[in-house]
Amino acid sequence: MAVVRATGRVWLHVIRSSSCGGGWTDLPRRWQSSAHAAQTKDSKHQIQTAQRKPKTGILMLNMGGPETLDDVHDFLLRLFLDKDLMTLPVQSKLAPFIAKRRTPKIQHQYSKIGGGSPIKMWTAKQGEGMVKLLDELSPRTAPHKYYIGFRYVHPLTEEAIEEMEEDGIERAVAFTQYPQYSCSTTGSSLNAIYRYYHAKDKKPAMKWSAIDRWPTHPILVQCFSEHIQKELAKFPEEKRRDVVILFSAHSLPMSVVNRGDTYPQEVGATVQKVMEKLGYSNPYRLVWQSKVGPMAWLGPQTNEAIKGLCQRGKKNILLVPIAFTSDHIETLYELDIEYAQVLANECGVENIRRAESLNGNPLFSKALADLVYSHITSNEVCSKQLTLRCPLCMNPVCGETKAFFASQQL
Ligand code: FES
Repeated sequence: MAVVRATGRVWLHVIRSSSCGGGWTDLPRRWQSSAHAAQTKDSKHQIQTAQRKPKTGILMLNMGGPETLDDVHDFLLRLFLDKDLMTLPVQSKLAPFIAKRRTPKIQHQYSKIGGGSPIKMWTAKQGEGMVKLLDELSPRTAPHKYYIGFRYVHPLTEEAIEEMEEDGIERAVAFTQYPQYSCSTTGSSLNAIYRYYHAKDKKPAMKWSAIDRWPTHPILVQCFSEHIQKELAKFPEEKRRDVVILFSAHSLPMSVVNRGDTYPQEVGATVQKVMEKLGYSNPYRLVWQSKVGPMAWLGPQTNEAIKGLCQRGKKNILLVPIAFTSDHIETLYELDIEYAQVLANECGVENIRRAESLNGNPLFSKALADLVYSHITSNEVCSKQLTLRCPLCMNPVCGETKAFFASQQL
């Protein structure tokens, strides 16, 4: 990515499409070709795995994003109905109301980034790279097959589990694609796995385990630091050392933080490791984006921080999305357009850029493969942290999910 404002002019290098229809054809050309390549590779892989029955299934968990503008409403509806993410009064009635009301605004945002979220395309590409490496690394557990399990769009987690069961997978790894754990994201996806079996009142045929967090994985840290160095090199040389690195992560309501969610601490751990790798080359801060509604959220907010820095004469800024690994609306719209373009203009930024998301970086697929390989060889069902409920957790399903994973016999 690159948004750079220099000598009063804003250059936005993100290719955007103005079409608003459906499918990959609405995505910017670079996504279309990557999507096509991922799909082609995907098909090849599917043919191969169809020929060789997969033994190990890796379920890549994420909230997902609407692929087309027509998918936005249902995405929002599922999101507002998710009691693991938020609790609303009379949720079954209020959620459809809020989803309907917010749909046009969110559709507008997606139309500005090419008509849909690229997250499925990137996840497929990452999964493809991961299983290829795994087949070489671990013949004992091969063939490996990746499955995508999104929380709010297709392929839904439940659909992916169904497919894994049908494929006759022996060993299933629930692999969160959020490096840092939160009960609102990874916790919600793991609860969905537990609920799937609970609703059917059946035991899984597969042996399940979970990679529930990986905030300081060395290759992840290396990917982030390389992307930062690459972007820092694009600042004018005389400014480079003074650039403020603003690590930006999705914020959380303070009600979630205060019940003991580990997310803020784990995001901080990633930031610390990345800065250590960079030799603390620049001043930096961790800030939080995407707050909605009037309640208190974890801060400072990214937009407020940009404004505040400019007011204090710090006008060279590098934004680094640190809690997502693929591009999505919060990077492509919120960071690139709302902040690095519109807001930066308003507050007189000299240079503002955004470090590229990890997306199709082959080193990132290596990180994913390494995580799965280490996890399988460890014979652990999950991290020790997952076994502990938040000290102020009020959701009984969290306890049942933890018991579900803890009871798996590998
Ligand atoms: Fe964290 Fe339930 S909300 S374990």
